[in-house]
Amino acid sequence: MRTASGRHEKRARIMRPRRYLMCRPTHFTVSYSINPWMDPGAPTNTATGLAQWKRLHDVLVALGHTVELIPPRPGLPDMVFAANGAVVVDGRALVARFRHPQRTAESAAYTQWFRERGWTEVVQARRFNEGEGDFLPAGGVLLAGSGFRSEPAAWAEAEEFLARPVLGLTLVDPRFYHLDTALAALDDDEIMYYPGAFSAESRELLADRFPDAILATEQDALAFGLNALSDGRHVVLARTAERLAGQLRERGFEPVGVELAELLKAGGGVKCCTLELRTAPRPAE
Ligand code: ARG
Repeated sequence: MRTASGRHEKRARIMRPRRYLMCRPTHFTVSYSINPWMDPGAPTNTATGLAQWKRLHDVLVALGHTVELIPPRPGLPDMVFAANGAVVVDGRALVARFRHPQRTAESAAYTQWFRERGWTEVVQARRFNEGEGDFLPAGGVLLAGSGFRSEPAAWAEAEEFLARPVLGLTLVDPRFYHLDTALAALDDDEIMYYPGAFSAESRELLADRFPDAILATEQDALAFGLNALSDGRHVVLARTAERLAGQLRERGFEPVGVELAELLKAGGGVKCCTLELRTAPRPAE
């Protein structure tokens, strides 16, 4: 929303408590490379990764959110990136189908987690679909990315199962291989993104649908500042995305900076570590 002077309005922001699923990086390492950030030759430190992850976990709890945990499995070092496990809307969980064999086994872990906790509408995607990495609910639509991981055929499948219209977007820069590395939903009708990550056609779609979006610089996008979580008021994001934090403050959001440099060695950040569980499961009786 703009004021008469053309400046963005600083609205009062209301936080809505969320429910997130996270996975402790007990087995975190970079032993293969499936995105340009991953260099198996460079050292990683699991203890540092764990400490940084714990801090993110504690920040979310301190903000008033509920965090549930899925047990990490040995041999699945990327399982810490829980966002990729599924996309969950209105109590329906569409479980991921990973493009790379290194992550395929994660799907069964997520399916089991949901089923054991009484979620009844749990289906694994038939098409390559990397969960909230590529599917972000925003303003009644499901923003869906493809180009590197999830396939365009997954859009229709998600639209049908989750009963939300999909706005398909094409990613073109391999450094931003999942939608959530280049775009974040801030509130029902507000988003922030890095235009350079998208095809010309997708940039037009975004500009048309979200004319007031916050546009991030390449530097902040590379700091994984867009791999952020918003509860409507607080926006948890990489501490190094300073300019973006200022842009958020101008709109009335409260940026909360966290340090996740160790996990960035695997190409992941704040959002990658969390899967939002939208609506409660039916109690398992
Ligand atoms: N190493 C992981 C991969 O390439 C990182 C996943 C990051 N997750 C995300 N939601 N962007 O699949």
